[in-house]
Amino acid sequence: MTVSIQHEGEIAVVTVDNPPVNALGQALRQGLWDAVGTLDADPSVRAVVLICAGRTFIAGADVTEFGKPPVPPHLPDLVDRLEQATKPWIAAIHGSALGGGFEVAMGCRFRVALDSATVGLPEVTLGIVPGASGTVRTPRLAGVEAAVELVTTGRPVKAAKALSLGLVDAVVTGDLRAEAVAFARNALTQPLPQPISARPVTSPDAAWWEEQRKAIAKRAKGEVAPLRALDCLRMAAEKPFAEAMAHERATFLELRASDQAAALRHIFFAERGAPKPAHLDDAKPKDIRSAAVIGGGTMGAGIAAALRDAGLPVTLIERDAEAVQRGLQNLRSIFDGAVKRGKLTEAQAEARMDGVTAGSDYSLLAGTDLVIEAVFEDLAVKRAVFAQLGQTCRVGAILATNTSYLDPRLIAEGLPHPDRFLGLHFFSPANVMKLLEIVPTPTTSPETLATGFALARTLNKIPVQAGICDGFIGNRILKRYRAEAETLVRQGTPIAAIDAAMRAYGFAMGPFEAQDLGGLDIAFLQREGARAAGQDVPETLGDILVRAGRKGQKTGGGWYDYMPGERAPKPSETTARLLAENIGSGPVLGFEEIAARLTAAMAEEGRTILAEGIALKPSDIDLVEVHGYGYPRWRGGPMFAAG
Ligand code: 3HC
Ligand code: NAI
Repeated sequence: MTVSIQHEGEIAVVTVDNPPVNALGQALRQGLWDAVGTLDADPSVRAVVLICAGRTFIAGADVTEFGKPPVPPHLPDLVDRLEQATKPWIAAIHGSALGGGFEVAMGCRFRVALDSATVGLPEVTLGIVPGASGTVRTPRLAGVEAAVELVTTGRPVKAAKALSLGLVDAVVTGDLRAEAVAFARNALTQPLPQPISARPVTSPDAAWWEEQRKAIAKRAKGEVAPLRALDCLRMAAEKPFAEAMAHERATFLELRASDQAAALRHIFFAERGAPKPAHLDDAKPKDIRSAAVIGGGTMGAGIAAALRDAGLPVTLIERDAEAVQRGLQNLRSIFDGAVKRGKLTEAQAEARMDGVTAGSDYSLLAGTDLVIEAVFEDLAVKRAVFAQLGQTCRVGAILATNTSYLDPRLIAEGLPHPDRFLGLHFFSPANVMKLLEIVPTPTTSPETLATGFALARTLNKIPVQAGICDGFIGNRILKRYRAEAETLVRQGTPIAAIDAAMRAYGFAMGPFEAQDLGGLDIAFLQREGARAAGQDVPETLGDILVRAGRKGQKTGGGWYDYMPGERAPKPSETTARLLAENIGSGPVLGFEEIAARLTAAMAEEGRTILAEGIALKPSDIDLVEVHGYGYPRWRGGPMFAAG
C-alpha cells in the first residue's frame, strides 16, 4: 500500500511507503489526493501528520515519469488540495524532503523535521524549475532572498539551517512520529497560521534582481534552468499567486522537455547506476578499515586526504625521513586550505592529521587492508614498490596503483597473489575530484574489483571501470581532444578562438589554457619516452613550445604569455612565431563549428573505446568526462551529446 492511514486519537497519521525514495509517482499522488478527501470527511480527525516509511521523506517527483505525458492528479493541484484541506496537515520530515517532496511539505500547514534531515529544491540540477509551487510558495514562507538561494543553486540545507530560514517550524530528535503527533496536538491549541499561498511577500528592488541575474548567469555558464528559476521567483515576488503559478508551470513543462533537462537526467541516472555494475552482483567486497598510500607527492597527499576525509586511518610511506616530512607537509597544506575556506575547523584538521602514521618502513603496512601506490610514473620504481608490498602486506590486503599511463599488468608482474591487485586512477586534486577510474587486470578477482567500487562509495566518488590501454578512458580521450584542437590550429583557427569556443560550450577552460595551467611538459615527457622506446609519435605543436622552454604558466608562457604573478592568458607573439611554419591559412572556424569538431572527436574516440571493450557503456564515458575533465554536465557528456 503506497499510502496508509492510522489514528492516534484525534490525530490521523498518513504514512507514505513508496520505496526506494517515496518519489511522487502517479499512484502516490492519487493516494495522497484520496487521503485528503477521506480525512476531510472523518469528523473524528482534527489534524493530520504526513510521514514516510523507509530511508527518506518524499524525495521529489518521479524523475522516470519526466519523458512521458503528465497524468493527473498533477502535483501542483495536490499541493493546493493539501493546503485547502479542512484539517491542518503537518509534514514529518526525515532523510530528504526534496523538490516535489518539499513542495508537498509546503502544502502542509506545518513542517517538523528530524535534526538529521535536509530540505531543498534541487530541480535546477535536473535542468528544470520547481513545478509545484516551489518558486511561488518558498518566497512566501522564507522570504525572497532565501528562496533565490535555495532554488537557483539547487543546494539542499540541513534541518538547523532550514529552521533558521523559516523553511521548517520545528527540529526534533528521537521518535519523529511521536514528536510530530505531539506538535500537532499542541498546534490545535492555538490559532492556525495562514496557508503559505495567502502569506504576503515583499519584493526587493529592480537593482537587486539585476545583481542576482548577473551573478547567476556567471555561475550557470550556459545552463538555462537557474536563470529561468530566477524569472519565476521574481514573478512570484511581484505578481499575484495564481499568475506566478501559471508562469512556473509553463516554465516547468517547457524545460522538462528541453535538451538540457534530458542531458541532466541522463547524468543523474548514470551516476546512480555507476556504483552498482550488474557484473559484480555476486562479488562481495572486502571490508576496508585501514589504508596506506605510498608516495606523498601531489597525488599521494590528495589520496591520503580523501581517505582521511572518509574517516579511514592512513599510513603514508615515503622514500626517506626527509620525504616523509615533505609528504606530511603536503597533506597538512590540503587540510590547512580546507580550514581557510571554512570547510574544516582547526580541530577537525588536527584530527585528520592525527589519524596519519608516516614513515619509510614498509613494516608499518603489516596490518593494512588497502594500499594505494602513487610514486613516480616509472615502471622500475613502481615494480620495486610492489615487490616490497608483496613481501610485507597481508595476503588479504588489496594492492592498487594510481598509474596514469603505465600498463598495470607490467606493474604487477611477479606480485604474489595478483588477484588482489588493481588500478585505482584518481584525478587531481584527488580529495576533490569525483571521478575514480577502476582498472582491473586479467588476474584481478571479482572480490578485489568489487572492493574498488565499495571504496569509491566510501570516498563519495563516482567509479567507472576502465580497461587497459594508453590513458585508460579519460586520458585517452583527452589526448584525442588535444590533438584535434591542434589540428584546428594547424588549419588556421586561432588558439584563443578555440579556447573561447570551448568556454562558450560550457567548459570552465579551453584546451590550451588548461594545458598552460597543468604544464605542457608532462605530456611532452611521455611522448619523448614513447619515442625513446622506438614508437612513432609525430611531433606536436606542444612539443615545439616545450623545446623552446614554454611549459605553461609556471615558465611565464606556453600557448599564451602570462605577466608575472598573473593568471590571465595573453595571446603570444612568441608562440605565433614558433608555430608559424606549421600553421596554414584555412578558413577560421566559428565557435559552434569548433565545439562541434572537438566534441565529435571525443565521441569518436569514445566509440572506439567502447568497441575495444575499454569502457563498458557509453554513459560511463560521459561520467568520466563530466567528473574528471570538466565536460559541461548539462550537455550530458560527449556520447550523449553525439546522440
Ligand atoms: N525519481 C525517481 N527515482 C529516483 C528519484 C526520483 N526523484 N530519486 C532517487 N531515485 C532512485 C534512484 O535512481 C535509485 O534507483 P536505483 O536503486 O534503481 O538505482 C534509488 O532511487 C536510490 O537513489 P540513491 O542511490 O540516490 O539513494 P540515496 O539514499 O543515496 O539518496 C536521495 C537519496 C538524496 C533522495 C537521492 O536519491 C536524490 O537526491 N534524489 C533526487 C532528488 C531530486 O532531485 N528531487 C527533485 C526531483 S524533480 C521534482 O521534484 C520536480 C517537482 O518540482 C515538480
Ligand atoms: P609526485 O612527483 O608529485 O609524487 C611522487 C612521490 O612519490 C614523491 O613524493 C616521491 O618522493 C615519492 N616516491 C618516489 N619513489 C618512491 C618510493 N620508492 N617509495 C615511496 N615514495 C616514493 O607525482 P604525482 O603527480 O603525485 O604522481 C604520482 C603518480 O600518480 C604517478 O604514477 C602519476 O602518473 C599518477 N597520477 C598523477 C596525476 C596528476 O595529475 N599529477 C593524476 C593521476 C595519476
